[in-house]
Amino acid sequence: RPGKPLVVAIDGPSGSGKSSVSKEVARRLKLAYLDTGAMYRALTWHCLKTGLDLQDGAAVEQASKELALELSTSANVEYVGVAGVDITEEIREPRISSAVSAVATTLGARNELIRRQRQIIDQHHRRMVVEGRDITTVVVPNAEVRVLLTASEEARMRRRGLQLGGTQTKEQLAAQVIHRDAKDSTVVNFTQAADGVITLDSSDLDFDETVETALSIVGKVIYGD
Ligand code: DC
Repeated sequence: RPGKPLVVAIDGPSGSGKSSVSKEVARRLKLAYLDTGAMYRALTWHCLKTGLDLQDGAAVEQASKELALELSTSANVEYVGVAGVDITEEIREPRISSAVSAVATTLGARNELIRRQRQIIDQHHRRMVVEGRDITTVVVPNAEVRVLLTASEEARMRRRGLQLGGTQTKEQLAAQVIHRDAKDSTVVNFTQAADGVITLDSSDLDFDETVETALSIVGKVIYGD
């Protein structure tokens, strides 16, 4: 259905394989791609850069409104920048990962980023794969396809460990994966699928199988096949 709106909303915890799966689904369907987590990470980078107190909600909200964010919306090009500074790599560093929850739990900043996300989706004529934590429930609850990508704690810690090069201890991985999710889920519930959201459990699937399953969900929802 070229030209018709097709928003594929994919939520899930860290280590569920969400980003790599979402990107591949976007490539296969020739849709644009939006990584909303990168927006929270970029805002966190900016707040740390300007020495802002992350506990100061009003200041974080103000920063979110002023953020000169540049974000690639192609699954084939990874780029995140703030006012011309390339922070694509830096936003994945542990110092950002451990600070991002403080920013993501600031409601004023969330509202601003959600507003921007909806704007970006509209600019792409609502043909986009959008991944995050609250996409199926808050950002685009009327998305054509809504998926919650889950995986067991064990599988998620294993994947994040591989992603980080296998240098992390079990405790460090638990802090990155499970404790962060616990903190994040105080503002957005991404542990259970909302009404009408399809759960895709990837614990026992490899990458290709997960992508194929996601594509078949899109096919079922859109074409009824
Ligand atoms: O997916 P990620 O690890 O890059 O997300 C970074 C942080 O942003 C994570 O702590 C949760 C938060 N986040 C959010 O609250 N809502 C979203 N839609 C996306 C990410």
